[in-house]
Amino acid sequence: MNWIWAFSAFGVVSAIGVISSAKTAPIDPPKPATAKKTAAKVSYANGVAALLNDKCVSCHRPGEVAPFSLIGYENAKKWAPMVAAVTHSKRMPPWKAVEGFGEFEDENRLSATQIQMLKTWVDAGAPRGDKKLEPAAPTFPATEWSLGTPDILLAPTKPFKLEADGEDVYRNFVVKNTSDKPIYIRGTDVKPGNRKVVHHVIIYLDGMNQAQRYLDRVKDGQEGYSAPGGGVGLLPTGSLGGWAPGVAGRLLPEGTAFVVPPKSNYIVQVHYHKTGKPETDLTRVGLYTTETPPTREMNLNWIFNFMVNIPAGEKQHKMRQTFTYQKDVTIYGAMPHMHLVGKDMKSWFELPDGTKKSLVFVDDWDFNWQLVYRLKEPMAIPAGTKQIVEATYDNSTNNPRNPNNPPKRVTWGEETTDEMFLLITYYTFKDASTPRPRSIIGQLR
Ligand code: HEC
Repeated sequence: MNWIWAFSAFGVVSAIGVISSAKTAPIDPPKPATAKKTAAKVSYANGVAALLNDKCVSCHRPGEVAPFSLIGYENAKKWAPMVAAVTHSKRMPPWKAVEGFGEFEDENRLSATQIQMLKTWVDAGAPRGDKKLEPAAPTFPATEWSLGTPDILLAPTKPFKLEADGEDVYRNFVVKNTSDKPIYIRGTDVKPGNRKVVHHVIIYLDGMNQAQRYLDRVKDGQEGYSAPGGGVGLLPTGSLGGWAPGVAGRLLPEGTAFVVPPKSNYIVQVHYHKTGKPETDLTRVGLYTTETPPTREMNLNWIFNFMVNIPAGEKQHKMRQTFTYQKDVTIYGAMPHMHLVGKDMKSWFELPDGTKKSLVFVDDWDFNWQLVYRLKEPMAIPAGTKQIVEATYDNSTNNPRNPNNPPKRVTWGEETTDEMFLLITYYTFKDASTPRPRSIIGQLR
């Protein structure tokens, strides 16, 4: 299937984008009878290079999201002990969806055999093996845009200046859209300018020029505006998805597209986290368009539960939200979103006939890896189906990611140290003539 995905949940732009294209020959697990013999022969040339090329170098290469390259023997050897350690602990490759609960494009995980192979190789001193047998490193597009040069670029004209200290900043960069025809968006790719400070990016639509009243009041001389209390300060009329660590540029499934109505302005919201030093950032969003109207318009269903209120010290705080679809829809994927005390999030469907269908289950939530999980096969869901979202939070000292020590009560909010309950589902209506929901929140009630 040929999809692009705009939004890896708010992550690693082109990094994940490449994973799917970097698929090389799978590594054959050694057959039991010859396991010993095969294991003894593991070398960079025999097995390890192919595995790293397939599973790691989409991110671990120059200019990409990972801090070092794993291309070529020298790099692989230098990092060998850590490679064994992080694959054993399943920290790498970063893929958080539980196996067997939903099937996804871009799934990137290692089998037990592959993890063992890396350990065997490292234990043997990370040998190179026969250089002539080394597979060639995979090739990547020369442009920084993994989907090619964007048709529309959304970006401020000057870098945004961020102060050293203080609260998080939500800056909303408004890009005017003068087109009097609808624009069909097949895909989105986000390039955060300064990854030290960009926490996530969301692209909203403002169909009624509501942002103007904020722009008129900006006093700091910079582009965009910050609304009181964070966020965009208005009810967006739509969204094109966004970026968070882990998200890759992707095209939507064939025949689907986001539709930007005539003269609907874009708002690129960048959530900044300060570093203690003054910083600058110029985040860019690339849009990929098509002239052909989609057979189905892509929509996003934002399932929130705003009642987040987690007592200090609570280890297993559970929350739940249910959404009922009023029409027949097709589901394409989902992006869970929580902050730092979130532990797991699970979503599934309960059909009117009682059948249950898995969507996604992230059991080891990591704020740094917020992915869009794109279903391998789109899923048809009849009207009357309930979508259930459940989450668990650990607000105790057991949670190494807890921002408060000692723990404090945590409630809903936009700051990273506040908490959220949100799952965004990608869907289309079966009946293509169904009018688009008027706002992302409006879809919920
Ligand atoms: C989606 C992108 C991505 C993929 C795929 C990926 N990595 Fe990483 N890796 C990162 C990023 C980003 C970091 C630095 C941040 C972090 O440690 O989480 C990292 C860090 C690491 C580290 C350093 C860990 C540390 O504690 O500092 C090692 C070792 C590593 N990766 C190995 C691998 C191996 C081996 C694979 C393949 C089996 C792999 N990575 C696949 C993005 C990726």
